[in-house]
Amino acid sequence: MTASQQWADRLKAVVPWGSSTCSKAAPYMPDEPGVIVRGNGCRVWDADGKEYIDYRNSLGPVTLGYRFPAVDEAIRKQLEAGIIFGHPHPLEGEVAEMLCEVIPCAERARFLKTGGEAIAACIRLARCHTGRDHIVHIGYSGWLNALSSGGSTLPGTVSDSVPPGVPAALSALHHVRGWNDREALEEIFAKSADQIAALVVAADYARMSEGETFYPFLRELTDRHGAVLIYDEIVTGFRIAIGGVQEYFGVVPDLAVFAKGVANGMPLSVYCGKAEIMDKLDKAIISSTYAGETLTLAAAKAAITTYLGADVVGHIWRHGEKLWQGVNALFREYDLPAAAKGFWSCPLLSFDPKGPADLQERFFRAAYRNGVSLYSVSYVNFSHQDAEIDETLERLEGAVREPS
Ligand SMILES: Cc1ncc(COP(=O)(O)O)c(C=O)c1O
Repeated sequence: MTASQQWADRLKAVVPWGSSTCSKAAPYMPDEPGVIVRGNGCRVWDADGKEYIDYRNSLGPVTLGYRFPAVDEAIRKQLEAGIIFGHPHPLEGEVAEMLCEVIPCAERARFLKTGGEAIAACIRLARCHTGRDHIVHIGYSGWLNALSSGGSTLPGTVSDSVPPGVPAALSALHHVRGWNDREALEEIFAKSADQIAALVVAADYARMSEGETFYPFLRELTDRHGAVLIYDEIVTGFRIAIGGVQEYFGVVPDLAVFAKGVANGMPLSVYCGKAEIMDKLDKAIISSTYAGETLTLAAAKAAITTYLGADVVGHIWRHGEKLWQGVNALFREYDLPAAAKGFWSCPLLSFDPKGPADLQERFFRAAYRNGVSLYSVSYVNFSHQDAEIDETLERLEGAVREPS
């Protein structure tokens, strides 16, 4: 038995799912690593010393690369001065100022630790601001906000009933509608506009380009009905553009959440937006002990400084294009009904449902065996260079050539 398998068994015995993050649990053992013990740049190593070129990036947050020197140095330096204090630290103000510079909707910014809780904070604020209770959701916005029947309980999964553990009365305040389903959105607002506090939208990765007209539609719809427009930029921020889809498509929401990508993997979420709404925080009380923890804020300052000094977003797009066009060419060459769809900086690996039922599993397993770690939404980071993309494509060619 490999060390990775032993760890997977130990984890399963004591940690439900074998991981505190459902999407990190490994379904494709023994090809998939049960645990990762270290990373460097764009590579990671499992407990048996096997190396992988990594596109999971901790499921999004590692945008610059593992052990990125400027970020790690900032953390080490701050560690010398202490981790967290009983009063605010200057970094809290400095990082908030930087975010207000780079995020179009941000006149005020405040911190939490996870994306889901920051979305929940925006929902609380929107309810306080409008005096209304109902929320319309598009896409996955964290476990805390997966409350309604038909909603996304995990990225890529949908519940067909009220999610277990959620009170029916709470669930009834939350309504899920599909990405770019304009008719259904018009309908719910026509029926209950005076009760809808906010619309929360997380982009559909495969159909991101529809944002060009869908975001203006959402802006007009929420303005017309007096609802707060909240963008979940947890994945799109610092990846599609520094300022996320609101910068890319030029349509500014009232509130937004950024998280993965702000601090290269250190736990930080940002809820930000118009002063008129954010200043309602004097009434809607949101407070958390660890929000201003300084190692993370030091990492955020270093990461944002890197983003502003180097063309990180351009790098991610260009290298993403090279990788995913190469992968799509392999799929075509080997006649596999699959494709990377969406924007090059965060595409969805999509497997044709009319193709072989086990194609996705076979492809992921073979990729792991050949030393490439993928996920349904896989990301190129700032540490993937041309040589690593070429090496990845060679390894993936080895994977798709394996006999099935
Ligand atoms: C688009 C989106 N929103 C929200 C979340 C939840 O963030 P967190 O896991 O930090 O609560 C995720 C996490 O995968 C996400 O991808």
